[in-house]
Amino acid sequence: MGSDRMNSGTAVITGGAGHLGQAIAESLASRGLVVVLSDLSIERVEEAVATIKAKERNADSIDIRGCAADVADEESVARLMETAALFGGIDVVVNNAGVEGPVATTDALDLNDLRAVYEVNVLGTLSVIKQALPHLRSSPNARVVNIASGAGLAGAAYMTAYNSSKHAVVGITRCVARELAADGIPVNAVCPGCVSSPMMGRIEREMARLGGTASVTYESAIPAGRYADAAEVANLVGYLATEAPKYLTGAALLIDGGLYA
Ligand SMILES: NC(=O)c1ccc[n+]([C@@H]2O[C@H](COP(=O)([O-])OP(=O)(O)OC[C@H]3O[C@@H](n4cnc5c(N)ncnc54)[C@H](O)[C@@H]3O)[C@@H](O)[C@H]2O)c1
Repeated sequence: MGSDRMNSGTAVITGGAGHLGQAIAESLASRGLVVVLSDLSIERVEEAVATIKAKERNADSIDIRGCAADVADEESVARLMETAALFGGIDVVVNNAGVEGPVATTDALDLNDLRAVYEVNVLGTLSVIKQALPHLRSSPNARVVNIASGAGLAGAAYMTAYNSSKHAVVGITRCVARELAADGIPVNAVCPGCVSSPMMGRIEREMARLGGTASVTYESAIPAGRYADAAEVANLVGYLATEAPKYLTGAALLIDGGLYA
């Protein structure tokens, strides 16, 4: 740990080996938090930690540890919290794990696919908050950031599973924020529009398949004319996790280049 590093606590991030997750872990670590990066498999976790450290000029200046955890499994979440607490308590939780689920017409929706999406995006988010709460309550710097989506604030044809799950993430954010406001724990949702990422690529390919077209892209619908970089979203998450006013709570902050403006 670098001596000039301002340590402002420990942050747990779920889905941290993914595209956005790695950028968020990097942003949190560069702001002085000890980061516990978790994802489904320990191999992917270790690879992600190594990738982030390799990008850092002074790898000793950031502190990132790894832990495998499945947010859809309550016991696995309990083990994640136990492990993270060993690193000095839990101050920040970033619920980033998410799956896009099926891109399908409503008649073709398989309810089991819908359940699988809700298990991760909705119940996983709630389970992590619930199990982190005893730790958060004993931290003076406790904050929760949930990665929802523009899909949590608007509908999209053929995206019923994903969009409804992200609406639930926004709903969870608002309810828990109201509940924890008196404890001084801000709870906010970040709602990215389209991020240049493998997940967006998968959705575009499925949309094209469903529409019978060669390809689908949304750049022309975005006033900024481009998708977001993961780092742009990660910086907003880092801000909310550390220095944003604590009075900012219960918000669902769009970062979408004006898409939903
Ligand atoms: N990519 C976008 O354009 C975009 C836009 C808006 C919101 N989001 C949201 O941002 C978050 C990150 O997305 P991304 O683009 O990095 O996707 P990604 O697929 O690269 O990352 C998601 C990560 O979550 C992990 N994960 C899945 N199920 C899990 C489980 N049960 N337990 C623990 N981890 C699990 C995956 O292994 C993966 O590493 C997601 O919540 C997504 O819905 C993404």
